[in-house]
Amino acid sequence: MLPDLPALRSEFDAALAGARTTADLKAIRDRFLGRKAGLLTALLKALGTVAPDERRARGAAVNALKTDIEARLAERESAAIVEDVAPGVDITLPGRVPAFGRRHPLTQVRERIEDIFAGMGYQIIEGPELEDDWHNFEALNMPGDHPARDMQDTLYLATPMPADEQGRRASLLRTHTSGMQIRYMEAFPPPVRLIAPGRVYRRDNFDATHTPMFTQVEGLVVDEGISLGDLKGTLQAFANAFFEASVKTRLRPSFFPYTEPSAELDVECQGCGGRGCGLCKQTGWIEVLGCGMVHPAVFEAVGYDAGKYTGFAFGVGIERLALRLYGVDDIRMFYENDLRFLEQLAP
Ligand code: PHE
Repeated sequence: MLPDLPALRSEFDAALAGARTTADLKAIRDRFLGRKAGLLTALLKALGTVAPDERRARGAAVNALKTDIEARLAERESAAIVEDVAPGVDITLPGRVPAFGRRHPLTQVRERIEDIFAGMGYQIIEGPELEDDWHNFEALNMPGDHPARDMQDTLYLATPMPADEQGRRASLLRTHTSGMQIRYMEAFPPPVRLIAPGRVYRRDNFDATHTPMFTQVEGLVVDEGISLGDLKGTLQAFANAFFEASVKTRLRPSFFPYTEPSAELDVECQGCGGRGCGLCKQTGWIEVLGCGMVHPAVFEAVGYDAGKYTGFAFGVGIERLALRLYGVDDIRMFYENDLRFLEQLAP
């Protein structure tokens, strides 16, 4: 009896439907098309035994089935290679674009400042945000009754920390990074060339221009013969590098108890070229940092020879620079972690 071609076809259909891997398909290929024991191979071989008047039609039918099986196997085999490598993956789906993270804009500004000063040979140091009275005030020429303490609204700890080796208890959140000047000079002799980035805290409202926590970068240079000219030149170089332009700067007289003379550095507004705009509140200038020549009382507090050494110090507010750099008008945006905001800030 001649094998039933429709039955063979449905057996193949069922086998193919159940096949997943290249191994499954190989087994099907062997069963139907194998050179020795393949079912269709056997049928073709057996054509000679078919009655001559049926042979032609029979041969055509077997060959048609064989061609069909070949084609469908080949199609599935190429898909099965993918199935082997990545089971369950539909390779026709468009690729997914991963969401890339990036550094926070305030981190980017901090690193930009760090890179500039590192390039000028400064070392970068960090210190505690919980600070004691000595480092935050006293050694910076602000004794207990000094009116300058009113300049900063301090957040105090309800319970001071245990005393350290010097018997000092951290009792406040540092109001500026200037305490790092003291910490470094107490530990190391001159010369000094450092920056100290970090968070600082003040009892401020939380509004468009104030946050109770913000970030500063302190700078300190001490050596023999350091002059106000060195300060001015350093800050000019910094401003040029930061704003990537030859920017106009000015030192405006100011007051800090730990520097004498004291000044504030203004940079000509990059938004309007000094004509006045929203960015610079129509002044044409942007206030960048506080600075000055280290007060001799500070050298005395840390045991440096004030007759031999001079130095300068400065403190940059990172948020303020970031607001100007990115043209943002509300400082709170930097702390809300709203991706729609953060993704707009390059790079
Ligand atoms: N500590 C000052 C402030 O917080 C900045 C400053 C640092 C000024 C160093 C002079 C010298 O505003």
